[in-house]
Amino acid sequence: MQVNLLKQKTEAIFESFKEKFENVTTDEKKIDITLPGEPMSEGALHPLSIIRNRIIEIFSAVGFTVSDGPEIEDDWHNFTALNFPEEHPARDMQDTFFIRKNPDLALRTHTSSVQVRIMEKHKPPLRTISPGRVYRNEAISARAHCFFHQVEGLYIDKDVSFADLKQTLLYFAREMFGADTEIRLRPSYFPFTEPSAEMDISCNFCKGEGCNICKYTGWVEILGCGMIDPAVLDNCKIDSNVYSGFAFGMGIERITMLVYKINDLRIFSENDVRFLKQFSGIG
Ligand code: DAH
Repeated sequence: MQVNLLKQKTEAIFESFKEKFENVTTDEKKIDITLPGEPMSEGALHPLSIIRNRIIEIFSAVGFTVSDGPEIEDDWHNFTALNFPEEHPARDMQDTFFIRKNPDLALRTHTSSVQVRIMEKHKPPLRTISPGRVYRNEAISARAHCFFHQVEGLYIDKDVSFADLKQTLLYFAREMFGADTEIRLRPSYFPFTEPSAEMDISCNFCKGEGCNICKYTGWVEILGCGMIDPAVLDNCKIDSNVYSGFAFGMGIERITMLVYKINDLRIFSENDVRFLKQFSGIG
């Protein structure tokens, strides 16, 4: 009896709804599943991530692994093991942010600290790149920021020579900037490499004609490099009589600015979608 009552009531409600909906015109219907959906805006990789991934891809193809280390680093890994003794003037160029409660700790100034960590932990042969964020106490301008990104490269084995360094970097430059790119190595100084060099690429904007990107020289600097100083190998318990190696370090912002013709590095961290959305669909 109760069940029949329930059935009658339910049927009555069903009929009333059926009637209501059958007589309704399309625009009155609340939901029309045939209408197109609300568009969702598509996210995109940040240009620095696109270029970092491309750098990883290029070096992975010739056998480099990817490694990383902490952004809060101790004095040994950031400076001392890399041949920057305390009070050495080379430290002046890399002023950074220190941790007040423990002055032995600071925000790393370069990814070269990862070299030390890798050498301490692993035995050669070693072939790795280490991308990551680094910090400096710099006035912020179109060309410098208090944080930026680098990629470090490290190659250690028996009989590694400067020719290996040069050929590896020429390969990188041509993959990144085009097959007609030339490189130029200029003598330089870094405490942890001997000899040391700075590498320029032929200007990819003016093809050597001279423009304001290359300051009318036809060349633009993209990285520092050199043969690892034997003292650094010994600091990391790698026998410098048996092994040799090369290292290099480059700024990801710099490479990205050259690839995409961006002239102010502050724009990378301003979160302006009008800038960021221009890279959607790339990478
Ligand atoms: N660490 C250096 C810097 O931040 C860049 C660098 C130069 C890294 C030479 C290297 C190297 O590994 O061999 O200025």
